[in-house]
Amino acid sequence: MSIIFNEQNKTFYLNGKGYSYIFRINAVGYPEHLHFGAAVPCEDVSFVRSFGSRSQIATPAGVDNPNLSYNNTLPEIAFFGTSDYREPTFLVESERGDRLCDLEYVGHDILNEKPRINGMPSLDGGETLVVHLKDKFGDMQVDLYYSVYDDVSVISRRIVYKNGGNTTLKLHRAYSFTLGFGGVDYDVVTFPGNWMAERTPERRPMPHGVISSDSKRYSSSATQNPFIMVTSKDATEQFGEAYGISLIYSSSFVLKAEGTSNGDSIVTGGINDFDFCWTLGAGEILETPEAVIAYSNEGIGGMSRTLHDTFREHLINKRFVKQPRPIVINNWEATYFNFDNEKLCAIVDSVEGTGIDTLVLDDGWFGERKNDRFALGDWYVNEQKLVGGIDVIIEHTHAKGMKFGLWFEPEMINEDSDLYRAHPDYAIGVPGRPRSYSRHQYCLDLTRKDVRDCVVEMINKMLREHKIDYVKWDYNRNVTDAFSVGTDPERQSEFAHRYALGLYDICERIINGNPHVFFEGCAGGGGRYDPAMLYYFPQIWTSDCSDADTRTKIQYGTSMMYPLSTMSCHVSAVPNHQTHRVTPMSSRANIAHLGATGYELDTTKFTDEDKAAVKAQVEEYKQIQDIVLEGDLYRIENPYVSNYFTEMVVSKDKSRAILCVYRREAPANGDTKRIRLQGLDKDKTYRIEKLGIVASGASLMNVGMGVNYRLEDYTSDMYIITEA
Ligand code: GLA
Repeated sequence: MSIIFNEQNKTFYLNGKGYSYIFRINAVGYPEHLHFGAAVPCEDVSFVRSFGSRSQIATPAGVDNPNLSYNNTLPEIAFFGTSDYREPTFLVESERGDRLCDLEYVGHDILNEKPRINGMPSLDGGETLVVHLKDKFGDMQVDLYYSVYDDVSVISRRIVYKNGGNTTLKLHRAYSFTLGFGGVDYDVVTFPGNWMAERTPERRPMPHGVISSDSKRYSSSATQNPFIMVTSKDATEQFGEAYGISLIYSSSFVLKAEGTSNGDSIVTGGINDFDFCWTLGAGEILETPEAVIAYSNEGIGGMSRTLHDTFREHLINKRFVKQPRPIVINNWEATYFNFDNEKLCAIVDSVEGTGIDTLVLDDGWFGERKNDRFALGDWYVNEQKLVGGIDVIIEHTHAKGMKFGLWFEPEMINEDSDLYRAHPDYAIGVPGRPRSYSRHQYCLDLTRKDVRDCVVEMINKMLREHKIDYVKWDYNRNVTDAFSVGTDPERQSEFAHRYALGLYDICERIINGNPHVFFEGCAGGGGRYDPAMLYYFPQIWTSDCSDADTRTKIQYGTSMMYPLSTMSCHVSAVPNHQTHRVTPMSSRANIAHLGATGYELDTTKFTDEDKAAVKAQVEEYKQIQDIVLEGDLYRIENPYVSNYFTEMVVSKDKSRAILCVYRREAPANGDTKRIRLQGLDKDKTYRIEKLGIVASGASLMNVGMGVNYRLEDYTSDMYIITEA
């Protein structure tokens, strides 16, 4: 890993693990992108430039040379109004109302220590280059940050915008990066979705024009994910080039891919500029979220493994990321709101001896929470429901050697709550104007310090006064009525980003303030599943759909960018409560085992046979847990296009692996399949106990092996592969 600046050709060479990222400062002081891809020597590669379209070219001020047109040069940052017509990286308005900017290079720093971003999560470590740019004719100053890492093939980027003058500037757009690609021969993959259908890969050609993937929901959302992939046309799971761009951000974002009129492509994005305007007073700065850009020439699978390693090694809390995860019994789908201490104790008793080690008490334990119309915001125990207090169930759980987890929805408030009666203005909204409901609730105004203090105090009090080992932090609606009574009128369009900063502040104070507690994220399932949330929550409830068959798709899509260790997955009842589908218990367990596993059904109804099955499943999971949490994922069959879903996870030293095979529909005439394994060491010999196979990695990967499926729908098997 190294960052080198060649004074002669004014070129920066950023050499990461297995890649080179090269750009130069050209004759007009413009940072011009030259290469991001397979590693090359630190030599002059400016011969890559070509000039296609020459029609209607505008040139930078005072430079009457079309070859130096910004529009025809691959950018590191694109700015509007001075000869560039592509998607700008930012847009700034001066006090007199012009929106022009013409940046030039004024210097750079190379830092061994990567500076943290104020108030926002980012990757740790990494040698960092900061390139300083300044408007030739105005006050705008821009710093481009690039960090490279020893151990992962990613470059991370962000931008800091600064008002270097004495007047006020308004930023109407302030993205985190622009990345250039030579040519347009690429595909673009985005991840649209919905509640219970999160992160569905959608692949299409790089357009002539713009593809935009965004959220205007003040959360990263279930409807898109802050991740976009650009691949070579021929890229598959195993072959070809793949670039994965992931924003460490949880509020409204946008990511765009544009095939430009010049025959090149760019990808850009960051904080969504829809309904956005950030005021920069004299000397003020705006820091933008970090974008993590993974590169692989080993296909989409290689790109995913790179991102998984990056998040595990440089983002997720080191205290938990590789630790065995709690194996929970969650009472939500078992009881919904109808529980008391007696029922909860019975649930705990019913799992004794199975290996399940944590009870998570979900929604309904607080205030006057009769159903979802009441009491969000009242984070104190409902002693009418939990007679004798919550310590009855906590102590019972602990006495059985299990840990205790509790559900909160810290960002929310119901109209029918003590908190609302005392502080109606704490809810986001415009005074005097009725607010929109969603699940009968409102969002708290986390842009206000007094509101944040109140939430932190209530939750910390519960965590201080009771022996709580685990928290499930939910977020069940998106913000509407964006307006804060605590913000000046001219700054109301800063709301979406200020909400993110407020959220990170309470996460910091609650989560980092209670380091002994394990925090799981949730947002009506996977409605806010992003890298910034993973910084605080080592795992996230992947989706409110717990049906094993639907989960093959959701977990497949989610694994494109996020490691299996971050996916919270539960075995639930059949018929499934969301799809009414009936799947075998073994498949529900096998699919849940491809993540942080757990159970969410009424275990008091278990037969002896069910209990024995769960015990065996938990034992098997404990045997493979370290592979699931730390290993390399190989996606072999895509459940979106196939009747099969097949995945392997291989330990880092390639001595152990698991293979999960799943078939949706049973054909009338049974089928045998040949599966070629992936990711093994060709020179090692492996044993697959369940199949009685002992063979070399080379044969298992190149010849493959025959797998028989039982004659039933939704059938599956988990094979454990060990070095012989
Ligand atoms: C959300 C979560 C569920 C459950 C309910 C409780 O939908 O995703 O897991 O906690 O809220 O209201």
